[in-house]
Amino acid sequence: MNRAYRIEGYAIISSDGFIADTQGRFPDVLRNDADQRFFKSAVDRAAAVARGRITHEQEPNAGKRRLVLTRRVSGLAPDSRDPQALFWNPAGAPFEAARLALGLRQGALAVLGGTDVYAVFLAIGYDAFHLTVSHRVRLGAGRPLFPGMDKERTAAGLLKAHGLRPGPVRLLDPAAGVTLVTWTR
Ligand SMILES: NC(=O)c1ccc[n+]([C@@H]2O[C@H](COP(=O)([O-])OP(=O)(O)OC[C@H]3O[C@@H](n4cnc5c(N)ncnc54)[C@H](OP(=O)(O)O)[C@@H]3O)[C@@H](O)[C@H]2O)c1
Repeated sequence: MNRAYRIEGYAIISSDGFIADTQGRFPDVLRNDADQRFFKSAVDRAAAVARGRITHEQEPNAGKRRLVLTRRVSGLAPDSRDPQALFWNPAGAPFEAARLALGLRQGALAVLGGTDVYAVFLAIGYDAFHLTVSHRVRLGAGRPLFPGMDKERTAAGLLKAHGLRPGPVRLLDPAAGVTLVTWTR
């Protein structure tokens, strides 16, 4: 995409495509040290992150600019409890306004989910999506990577349908059966 900044998604999914269990909790079986190292170093390099209001409240901010999606504001609003965070309701303000208010001009915006947040940026357009799959973990039900996924509408199918192509498979943790594929345009 012809822009000075990049939009890059990051997620770890179970073999059946879930990022969290049916209660919206991140299950321990999906946590993987190699993925965590990859994820943390990517987030450290990013210019800013985008995430949903629930994980924003759960995970303290390490001083990085944060775009926080929420329907609790009409468009854009500061977070009085976190000077680095900007609340954004995509139904009330375009992404371009949010990006400029956040001060994102160069570098990467790391999109950290959850499900509906990944979907908002699927429509805007990812430059890259770093998808970790834990092949030995099957959740059976839960929060999918993208809304509306099923046997026909898979994560890979949706990424392809939005113009992304898979790169080589990287074995992040051979013993645990965890792979990483970066999808790009
Ligand atoms: N496996 C992974 O890679 C991964 C990645 C991310 C998260 N997770 C896990 O998934 C679970 C959290 O997911 P979650 O969906 O509950 O939390 P979340 O994405 O952090 O927050 C959801 C909230 O974001 C806001 N939001 C989402 N889409 C929006 C939209 N289109 N417009 C406006 N606001 C929007 C809403 O906030 P309001 O309620 O304020 O309106 C919504 O309640 C956690 O267990 C987390 O650990 C896993």
